[in-house]
Amino acid sequence: MDIIASGQPALEAAADHLLVFATKDDDILEGGALRRLNDALDGGLAPLVASGELSGALNEAVVVHSFGRTAAPRVVIAGLGPAERLGADEIRHAAASGARKARSLGSGALAVAVDGESCGMTTAEIASAIAEGLDLGLYRFDRHQSPKKTPNVLDRVTLHADNVSGVESGIVEGRALAGAANFARDLANEPSNLLTPTELASRAEAWAGQHDVEIEIMDEAAAAELGMGSFLGVAKGSHQPAKFLILRHRGGADEPGLGYCGKGITFDTGGISIKPAANMEAMKQDMSGAAAVVASMGAIADLGIPINVTALAPCTENMPGGNAIKPGDLLTAMNGATIEVINTDAEGRLVLADALSYANHLGLSPLIDVATLTGAAAVALGDVATAVMANDDELAAEVIAAGKVAGEKIWQLPMFAEYDEQIRSQVADVKNTGGRLAGAITAAKFLQRFAGETPWAHLDMAGTDDANKTRGTQVKGATGVPVRSLVHFAASRAAGSA
Ligand code: BES
Ligand code: MN
Ligand code: ZN
Repeated sequence: MDIIASGQPALEAAADHLLVFATKDDDILEGGALRRLNDALDGGLAPLVASGELSGALNEAVVVHSFGRTAAPRVVIAGLGPAERLGADEIRHAAASGARKARSLGSGALAVAVDGESCGMTTAEIASAIAEGLDLGLYRFDRHQSPKKTPNVLDRVTLHADNVSGVESGIVEGRALAGAANFARDLANEPSNLLTPTELASRAEAWAGQHDVEIEIMDEAAAAELGMGSFLGVAKGSHQPAKFLILRHRGGADEPGLGYCGKGITFDTGGISIKPAANMEAMKQDMSGAAAVVASMGAIADLGIPINVTALAPCTENMPGGNAIKPGDLLTAMNGATIEVINTDAEGRLVLADALSYANHLGLSPLIDVATLTGAAAVALGDVATAVMANDDELAAEVIAAGKVAGEKIWQLPMFAEYDEQIRSQVADVKNTGGRLAGAITAAKFLQRFAGETPWAHLDMAGTDDANKTRGTQVKGATGVPVRSLVHFAASRAAGSA
């Protein structure tokens, strides 16, 4: 899809549909582009407002015909919600909902009125939110369908405003963010027989090549050389060779920089502690953390964020098999810690133990890991918010703030010392499960031992990696969370250290 800036007045744009935004206010027809549209229609929108058909509610998408009064024959009016709550995220959602509506009506070319007279954002910020919302909202995963279930193609978009250069820079930023999130969605949506650790590695390699990111793919022998017994323990049950991905963006001073670690379980059967059959197919997405850290590097590089970032992704299947690890087995991680495996389904923390150990070995700081780690995080926060747990409350606050900028909700859970007791082992330094209570926290407590003293935050996205309905920027299926938060975090760190 092309998205280009134009200085032509939106009402004069030749397109299949014109997209205009509306806020949910009593004076809904008084604002900018909607007022111009209503004037062009000789006040024709007033009856729609009076009847309640046009309210400006968030994600509302009302279609009107303009009968020659605008160059585009039809107009989609996308609701932003109340003006006092208007921000970038509302614009993203409205752009997504409006564009999806236009596409569903067969629109191939869409003209968008970029108009933010009242909301205190710059033209570039508004255009960025619109472009980001368009790319996120029009996403679909249909590469394996023929014919496509939703065949309509919307491939030409123009964003109209007086400040064309502001719009242009906004488009670049918004598309870099959404493009990375969509790449993570593509990886997470892909079935596990097609996206093996080897295939994940080769797609990461292609992505790195396109975005000028360095990449190194460690095989099992190299991981063994480093002593990654915990990661390799999980890999033992699988016939697919495990891969440990290392991506580097060199944007900053000569220091190690940030470390992002992502859980890359391309399929989680539970291993010998096998999962029930119901919904097990969802476990093809258990590499969403790896997808997120890999994808974020593309946007970080595209935007030229002036800081060094390294992404680490331990990738393997978690399978039962004759060679698989068993409950009661003992593993030794790269940092020398011994782990008693109580449940082979608590495999995410095992692969991350070595990723965090290796991140420390590289001197990366601060560390952020992202993982579909525990059902308990989903029970606690549902599909609304990602859980964050940290050994540093200021870092957690920074991660939450980056999430706010991105429009990805993140909420902190506590890390009181009392929880450590639950993962004490009789035979090893630590055990890999802590019982039914506080399951998200005891998983984080396990990881904390491998982060050591390095400032570290852990994002448990087991509830937020998948959307069960399409709404706003969210499309049913993999969400691409928390790619955009990771990009904004790097940007805010770079700005802070400059
Ligand atoms: N990948 C799962 C967590 C998960 C569950 C992600 C549902 C997304 C949706 C993880 O590896 C797992 O199996 N966790 C166990 C841990 C338990 C054995 C301590 C869980 O949460 O039940
Ligand atoms: Mn598991
Ligand atoms: Zn898992």
